[in-house]
Amino acid sequence: MNLTIVGSGYVGLVTGTCFANTGNQVTCLDINPDRVAMMRRGECPIFEPGLAELMTRNIEADRLHFTGDRDEAYGNGELIFICVGTPTGADGRSDLSAVMAVARDIGEAIESGACKVKDPVIVVKSTVPVGTTAKVRDVIAGLTKKPFSVADNPEFLKEGDAIKDFQVPDRVVCGVERERGRVLLSKLYEPFVSPANPLMFMDIESSEMVKYASNAMLACKISFVNEIARLAEHYGADIARVREGMCADKRIGDKFLFPGLGYGGSCFPKDTLAVIEMGQDSGIPCLLNEAVHDVNQAQRHWFFARIAKHFGDDMNGKTIAIWGLAFKPRTDDVREAPAKTIIEELLNRGASVQAFDPIARHTFTEYGLDIKYIDDMYDCLSDADALILCTEWDEFRSPDFNRIKSCLNEPVIFDGRNVWHDDKMADQGFTYYSIGRRPQHEAVESNS
Ligand SMILES: NC(=O)c1ccc[n+]([C@@H]2O[C@H](COP(=O)([O-])OP(=O)(O)OC[C@H]3O[C@@H](n4cnc5c(N)ncnc54)[C@H](O)[C@@H]3O)[C@@H](O)[C@H]2O)c1
Repeated sequence: MNLTIVGSGYVGLVTGTCFANTGNQVTCLDINPDRVAMMRRGECPIFEPGLAELMTRNIEADRLHFTGDRDEAYGNGELIFICVGTPTGADGRSDLSAVMAVARDIGEAIESGACKVKDPVIVVKSTVPVGTTAKVRDVIAGLTKKPFSVADNPEFLKEGDAIKDFQVPDRVVCGVERERGRVLLSKLYEPFVSPANPLMFMDIESSEMVKYASNAMLACKISFVNEIARLAEHYGADIARVREGMCADKRIGDKFLFPGLGYGGSCFPKDTLAVIEMGQDSGIPCLLNEAVHDVNQAQRHWFFARIAKHFGDDMNGKTIAIWGLAFKPRTDDVREAPAKTIIEELLNRGASVQAFDPIARHTFTEYGLDIKYIDDMYDCLSDADALILCTEWDEFRSPDFNRIKSCLNEPVIFDGRNVWHDDKMADQGFTYYSIGRRPQHEAVESNS
């Protein structure tokens, strides 16, 4: 099949590459000329494990193409996937301007004949509030009387595991308005689905809602365990044991119930806000989702409060080392990264910050924060008064603790992801703070 993918970011590029890999002819369109130039040179503009290799293979097979030219992109696309960003706008509402701009482009391309396909199917893959795909249809229909139809096909991939998630999805959800959409999407997704990984068809509104319901549920689990962790810590319980006991209940399960600095990234924060927005628009307040969002925002500040308690409010003259800038491991995405909040709080109190991240340095520098970037995880500790771990990259899981101790001015660690063991850290002479576990030194003080 001939496919057009509009927007070549974390979703569009993975989608285009994986569809090319099953034999389709794919043209990826993007408005960012630097990004298009990179991709045309065969370079992958984002860090996503396995993506660069898969891109190369499909470029060499002449199945995967990149362009900034709309007429070229829309020329042969039987299915046109809209994969552009839908961030939270300055007014707190979903910013659908990119989606609507693409809808206008598509309408013009169909009307002018630049789109040579008769009856193309326009598929919204971006995460959009319920009713948006219908608006896309209205915008295109306002520009042309030629036949086309729309569909919604939300994406559930996780950055860091995107290729696997796309190729072996738990499920593929499609909202369609016409039989043609169902037929083309069934054919396209056939190599990716099975009875255990089903392809589900439904109405467009339900399909749009599935995406938000899923992300809101996952965000809810994270905020839930973080709230319990705060209580556990206060009452001297250990969240690791609480989690073990709770998750042994098969009705609860053990996924997405890890305490930490809260969720970040380009999806959960904005998708939770979009659910709240849909509630406000409909007069059906989404109180649970409001609480999920509030707990999440508070979590990073709550974690910072213990840093401020340790050092005092004035941190002038203190140097703090940060391990991890990405919002989670295996990605260079730093959107809504907890590390940013922690670093801003440190700088506000006068501390100097030096940071190491295996991959995300180049994206984090775009925030323009006045910090030092260090290329080696141990060099980053040099002359620092404490280490704060913000992202649980694999290389941080079993570090050389003797080396950490010898590099730091003081053996103080704030573990924002609970990757190390409380008791062992105290035995090795660290003052160790984590989440949902009362620090050993405080337990000793309160027992004496
Ligand atoms: N990132 C994820 O993990 C993830 C997962 C599932 C769903 N989603 C959803 O997918 C959508 C895209 O997310 P993303 O993270 O890939 O975004 P992104 O910001 O990484 O990429 C968007 C791309 O679209 C391009 N673009 C913007 N306007 C354009 C236009 N008019 N024409 C052509 N290209 C244009 C941008 O230059 C950019 O390259 C969002 O709605 C997001 O919520 C994201």
